[in-house]
Amino acid sequence: MESTQLDLVITDFKSEAKDTVVLELQHPHKFDLPAFSAGSHLEVYLANGLIRHYSLLNSSAEKHRYVIAVGLSAETKGGSQYIHQHLRVGDQVKVSHPRNNFVLGDTEEYCFIAGGIGITPILSMVHWCIQHHKKWRLIYALRHKQRASFYEYLMQLSPDNIQFYFNDENNDQHLNAHEIVNGLSEKEHIYCCGPNAMMQSVKDATQALSTERVHFEWFSAPAIAISEVQSSGSFQLKLKKSGKKIQVKADQSILDALEEDGFELPFSCRAGICRTCETTICSGIADHQDMILSNEERDANRTMLICVSRAKSQILELDL
Ligand code: FES
Repeated sequence: MESTQLDLVITDFKSEAKDTVVLELQHPHKFDLPAFSAGSHLEVYLANGLIRHYSLLNSSAEKHRYVIAVGLSAETKGGSQYIHQHLRVGDQVKVSHPRNNFVLGDTEEYCFIAGGIGITPILSMVHWCIQHHKKWRLIYALRHKQRASFYEYLMQLSPDNIQFYFNDENNDQHLNAHEIVNGLSEKEHIYCCGPNAMMQSVKDATQALSTERVHFEWFSAPAIAISEVQSSGSFQLKLKKSGKKIQVKADQSILDALEEDGFELPFSCRAGICRTCETTICSGIADHQDMILSNEERDANRTMLICVSRAKSQILELDL
């Protein structure tokens, strides 16, 4: 069976604005890499045992390399810090094949809204729009100009399509999402990625729009989703392969309960935004609490994200 992991080499590692580094990854023998679409990400398996997700920012037309950017997170649990401090050109890294949870639909006009390091998936979308002669614009919000990753790059790429918004030049006011939404053309679709506060304000401002026109890539789950997860009751897990039965307490995730029982399962965000823990459902009804499955996937009840989702039925059988 073909491996789902790739061993790549870091062929470029450079600083891009304050606390952001850009890594170029290539096959050790310069072979072509598996294709990807705009909005895709890689899972990066770090030597310290952590799995982290990073969006591919280069053009999906490029076959020979993947490019990712890593911002040094203030709440780092060891992922971004490890990359900043320990990885350099020539090092090998293990990554997944590209996956896409933020698919760019083919429409006529695009309004991209990015904040901070959330610019990365948007960059690959901008490349796609340029290649396909699509009408697009980008609103890129940042706290200060000095933290503007890819500022020079974007200015060279297509300055007329890009509006930078610096909080410190606007009396520390955040981007006004309602103003943007009120100014949308009838054909524009929104693609938004950035800090949760910005995403939430865009989500609130777009309530009246059809969901087909508004797309988000969350870096962490909004607090409201987590509080809802904690409110549902306990239930029983039946595990098809191992034959085990495990009780999941009201204040526990399925993943926590399985780990407590000795299972070692893949995970990354533990917040329902990355799909690393996606697990097949054999019977029972999932109570989906993630931020990433589509309505069709939820209704199909075939898989679930066990780091946050729970059960609507008293017994839930998983393929574990
Ligand atoms: S670990 Fe990321 S969705 Fe479950």
